[in-house]
Amino acid sequence: MDDVADRRARGQGTGPKSDFQTHLRELEARGLLVRVDRPINKDTELHPLVRWQFQGRVSDEKRRAFLFTNVVDSKGRKYDIPVAVGALASSRQIYAVGMGRRESEIGAAWMHAIANPIPPVTVRKAPCQEVVVTGDALKVSGGGLSALPVPISTPGFDAAPYFTMTLCITKDPETGIRNAGTYRAQLKATDRLGVRMATRIGGAGGYQHWLKYRARKQSMPCAIVLGAAPVVVFTGPQKLPLDMDEMAVAGGLAGEAIRMVKCISIDLDVPADAEIVVEGVIDPELLEPEGPFGESHGHVALEDFNMSMQVTAITHKKSPVLVSIISQVTPSESSTIKKVAYEPLFLAHLRDVLGIKQVRQTVMHEPLSDLRPMIFVQLGNNTPHTEVWRALQGAAALKGDWGKIVVAVSEDIDPLSTDAVLWSIAYRCNPIEDVHIMPYRSRGHAPKSGPRNEESTMLIDATLKHPMPPLALPAKEYMESARKIWEELGLPALNPAPPWHGYSLGDWNEAWERYARRAVAGDWEESGRETYARRRGGLTPETPVRNVEAAPKK
Ligand SMILES: Cc1cc2nc3c(=O)[nH]c(=O)nc-3n(C[C@H](O)[C@H](O)[C@H](O)COP(=O)(O)O)c2cc1C
Repeated sequence: MDDVADRRARGQGTGPKSDFQTHLRELEARGLLVRVDRPINKDTELHPLVRWQFQGRVSDEKRRAFLFTNVVDSKGRKYDIPVAVGALASSRQIYAVGMGRRESEIGAAWMHAIANPIPPVTVRKAPCQEVVVTGDALKVSGGGLSALPVPISTPGFDAAPYFTMTLCITKDPETGIRNAGTYRAQLKATDRLGVRMATRIGGAGGYQHWLKYRARKQSMPCAIVLGAAPVVVFTGPQKLPLDMDEMAVAGGLAGEAIRMVKCISIDLDVPADAEIVVEGVIDPELLEPEGPFGESHGHVALEDFNMSMQVTAITHKKSPVLVSIISQVTPSESSTIKKVAYEPLFLAHLRDVLGIKQVRQTVMHEPLSDLRPMIFVQLGNNTPHTEVWRALQGAAALKGDWGKIVVAVSEDIDPLSTDAVLWSIAYRCNPIEDVHIMPYRSRGHAPKSGPRNEESTMLIDATLKHPMPPLALPAKEYMESARKIWEELGLPALNPAPPWHGYSLGDWNEAWERYARRAVAGDWEESGRETYARRRGGLTPETPVRNVEAAPKK
């Protein structure tokens, strides 16, 4: 993997941007940002409007970032801070702009940064502290948190405005190692938030820190960063080992150290070029009801007792932008941000750690089911049966809460096409042999209604296990020539999805190939003469020729 300096030297892209507003300008310059200057109600209109990108089936390459410059609320209040939504990962392309790389380079960039982190540096003066709000100013009506234009993500169900695209920074009280995770935070008062850090295995690193503070009966300092350079923000949802500093990995992505500054009121450092930072302390004992809130598993998370954070300071740039993200039902901005980061981890785990060299692609199925429950693994043709099963088990075991259903498919099946995967299950899998169900899986990130806490795992081998007849579509050359005629005739634009031409799946012989060649040359009568000579009695119709004739006539 080339590093960012090399790329810059070779003029390959401009590299990752060092702050969020520079990233917005880059999106605008590329025509990827829609500026909305008319008034938009953050409580009722803002998220539903951007949500239409996903519910309206706007294709990935046509999705845009939105910048709302005239934000109002249901009480008629007008905010002078603009809100950006969809600016981090409305599409793979937008995510790639944030990474300062081409889409095809995203996976390798992550693996490189994880292997080559660059520790951050500390600065004294920071843009994110140009404005500081503390003390009584946090408590006055309309001040503190309520001065920020925080949108409601799922109007009609959410209990309050929420910070959604956060980087929640905490520190292990024993080792001093920092963690940064993206966790939702509910506005509770002008100076209080409800914070939800997942307690499940594979959940939030911040929760592991909180357990240590609770044991010490000490409040946990927490800094919630809202808006920073995309490479910094992208580390929030990424799955890194707990003792790995996200800011050093962000440095690896940026190709240079991330600038950090000490918080005003707590002993933590935050990215100096952030837009807005909310500093505070989380109670080590008292939890407060939080939610309901529309969740990324596509259902509303009902009210749970979660962490209660007392805000000690809000700091921000003179003219900040507040960033929010579309999550909830998938596909969403939140699933894109995770998909591009998590899939390379699967590939590296199966191919490099487990050494299953035949693994070609891993796809976390996105629409509606969220990414984590369904994983499709594509393997090279002729992968030994035992390696197929190691890949299935390996994919199911990478994370405690990923891979409830894992399906292995062969190389000709596009794992991005659910139809193709179902087709493969329909014809290449005998459930009694090729499906195994294993007990004891965590329910993972899922609705909590109903009695079950523990689930199971279903592994499906839908690979090609023996030669099959060709796929019954015209061969590639005929489809390609016909496409030219289609276009000549000015017929509606085509949007082909594989498979769009026939191909051999192994069960095919010279004689059948000869018939097909003669047929397209108009010489089918010649084949008829040949088969006439092979007529036989004493057979039932539908008897396969090869069961009777030792070998097809050459
Ligand atoms: C938009 C968005 C919202 C998220 N909300 C939460 C949340 O509220 N709580 C949580 O524990 N994880 C949440 N996650 C997932 C975590 O960010 C993810 O598990 C991450 O790896 C946590 O980082 P950590 O391992 O450093 O704790 C969210 C992810 C995204 C993209």
